[in-house]
Amino acid sequence: MKEVLQALEIELKRLASEGVEAVVVDDESMAVLERLGRKAQSDKLVSRIGHFESSDSPEEILPEVEEIKFADSSDTKSNIASIKEKPITARIVKNYTDTDFKIAPIPEPSPFELPAGDKAAKWNFLRDKVLSDPVCNAHVKPQKKVVFGVGNLDAKIFFCGEAPGADEEIQGEPFVGRAGQLLTKIIAAMGLSRSDVYIGNIMNWRPELPTSKGNRPPTQEEMAYCLPYLKAQIEIVNPQIVVALGMTAVQGLLGFDPTRRMGKMRGNFLDIDGRALMVTYHPSYLLQYGNPKTKRLVWEDMMAVMEKAQIPISEKQRRYFL
Ligand code: URA
Repeated sequence: MKEVLQALEIELKRLASEGVEAVVVDDESMAVLERLGRKAQSDKLVSRIGHFESSDSPEEILPEVEEIKFADSSDTKSNIASIKEKPITARIVKNYTDTDFKIAPIPEPSPFELPAGDKAAKWNFLRDKVLSDPVCNAHVKPQKKVVFGVGNLDAKIFFCGEAPGADEEIQGEPFVGRAGQLLTKIIAAMGLSRSDVYIGNIMNWRPELPTSKGNRPPTQEEMAYCLPYLKAQIEIVNPQIVVALGMTAVQGLLGFDPTRRMGKMRGNFLDIDGRALMVTYHPSYLLQYGNPKTKRLVWEDMMAVMEKAQIPISEKQRRYFL
């Protein structure tokens, strides 16, 4: 059994290094891990890979563990035991149901058209539409805000994140918390400011948890609802390059595929609707697991973006994180 747990740890570390920010662990799997007397270690593993505030202690995370489970086999033991031969597949978390806590149902997105007019007219229309969208608003707690993209409507570079967090839903602006401050520093290292680029998220609301602490990745249904709003922002801004920050953003933008790996996708331009797409690690990942190597990888991705956008790169910039 010790080997199984070691294999599990190795697999979780591998997934984390691939940029996977959450895995799903069902109650049964958690119970097996607990029975093994390794509760503390398993909590630590889950919290390490989970998408939770680093200040959250395992005890605070535990009540939320039901939203994390391994693969989808009901045979938990063989499921865990099979990790050695067949790596587990990280999935975006299951949907909460009304029985978990109050969550408004997510309908299919309704088609809409942008009005005629210039970029500002289209953007203002879209912003009003999103901020007044009843589905988005039904998922926002009292005093909190629906979050729409910000930035330069003529930006060459469009950064796309996952979902607002605690700070973003208070301020109603993407990437203003700790991860946002790091993104702002990355943008500054590129010789740009936030007003030179556009910053949006797949999600327009912070995915709810029963507690006010911690974040969870959005479900596929949640992302599918908000995606047309993100795509309309891309259409309006018409950037040369979209930068997807983290695997959740990638899964949202390109459609869910559990075989995708950050390590294989980052570093080269991909395509999204005929436009260049660069995939890189999420700033939250850098905050949690960042080492000089990952920082350099992100920086190489950003230099590739700068080259494509014809932004000059100094010799000093080329040496960052070496
Ligand atoms: N993480 C995101 O993906 N988006 C934000 O706006 C903030 C944190």
